Amino acid sequence: MKKSNSVRFSIKSLDASGQGFSNLDGNLVFVPKTLPGETGVASIIASKKKVSFAKLDQLDQESELRAQPECPHYNNCGGCSYLHMSYQDEINFKTLALKDIFDRQHKIKLQNEIIVHAAKTRSHYRNRVQLHYNKNSLGFFGDGQNKDIIDVSNCLLMKNEVAAKVKALYQDDHWKTLNLNKKEGHIEVYLRDGKVSIHINQRYSNEGFTQVNQEMNEELKSLIDNRLNELGPDDYVIDLFGGSGNLSKKTNSPTLVIDSTPTKYIELTNDHQEYLELDLYGKHATRDLQNKIKRSPDLLIIDPPRSGLKNLDEYLKIIQPKEIIYVSCNAQTLARDLKKVENEFVINELFLFDFFPSTKHFETVVTLSKS
Ligand SMILES: C[S@@+](CC[C@H](N)C(=O)[O-])C[C@H]1O[C@@H](n2cnc3c(N)ncnc32)[C@H](O)[C@@H]1O
Repeated sequence: MKKSNSVRFSIKSLDASGQGFSNLDGNLVFVPKTLPGETGVASIIASKKKVSFAKLDQLDQESELRAQPECPHYNNCGGCSYLHMSYQDEINFKTLALKDIFDRQHKIKLQNEIIVHAAKTRSHYRNRVQLHYNKNSLGFFGDGQNKDIIDVSNCLLMKNEVAAKVKALYQDDHWKTLNLNKKEGHIEVYLRDGKVSIHINQRYSNEGFTQVNQEMNEELKSLIDNRLNELGPDDYVIDLFGGSGNLSKKTNSPTLVIDSTPTKYIELTNDHQEYLELDLYGKHATRDLQNKIKRSPDLLIIDPPRSGLKNLDEYLKIIQPKEIIYVSCNAQTLARDLKKVENEFVINELFLFDFFPSTKHFETVVTLSKS
């Protein structure tokens, strides 16, 4: 299919990232911000073999689920994917997507229904935001394959304090007067302890990972705390990809928090937690880990970056946990990893935590025990 072609589409369903897709004579066309049953016209912006990515131009047939998006940037911005429907419908589509990834794509049989933790607010939840910049523009990347930078001066995802700072950056192009050390890069606006700060071209604003949605973080932690509370001082916990020990903060048992963040940036607040700096994707990581862990843990918490832990089977052979809570921001890599250990561990519960309402992202949490 040629680039810049106008095509008529008829949306069959939504993919796992919330974009509609249409099958046109064997060619798959993805049209973000559409709904099943909708028909209309879209412009192709990128194509590869029989797969194309298009931008919605006109709707001929609207779904009854369609709602007016509240955000003024929604039509062009790539930040959000679900604002053209109600929040309940967004949750329904995200749940279907998660089920499809496990059931159909990875053939992992689920014994129980997915337990959904929807967010209390669909907007104003981000305590930090990363804005891209080039010579002329500041904002988020565009929709789908569009890599233009889109103005997001009125973005609804940010907490009010962050939004106010972002507005000030846009005011009279103030951001261009900052000490930008590269021609293209990113500016992060970060709210912590009631103070907003700006960080230019840094991986993490405070040198270590922090969760963007504090309300949902507390909800996830209360699930983990329930399990931690059942453990005693003789039990042992490992918090893998643990950052500053956020998820095991309420532990009463000796807990080894492992992450690659340099020790000097780690702020453990619980005396039961001990920190080990280790590159868990490194060539000798499993060997190094084997030498460091004291004994098999009663509970292993895993919370990796989007790429997951593709040698989970090797890790579990070494660690030999009784139980696992695996938290993931990428259900695809999570299901890939779990497939490798399905004969050794059973899935007890599968949760969807909507940490990132309005966007295509969500957190998945799986509890497992030895089969
Ligand atoms: C999704 S965050 C989770 C952090 C923590 N569990 C929390 O709730 O704040 C993923 C963590 O993986 C860590 N990480 C990234 N690459 C790593 C690597 N190669 N080895 C070890 N940790 C890594 C990051 O520093 C980050 O803290």
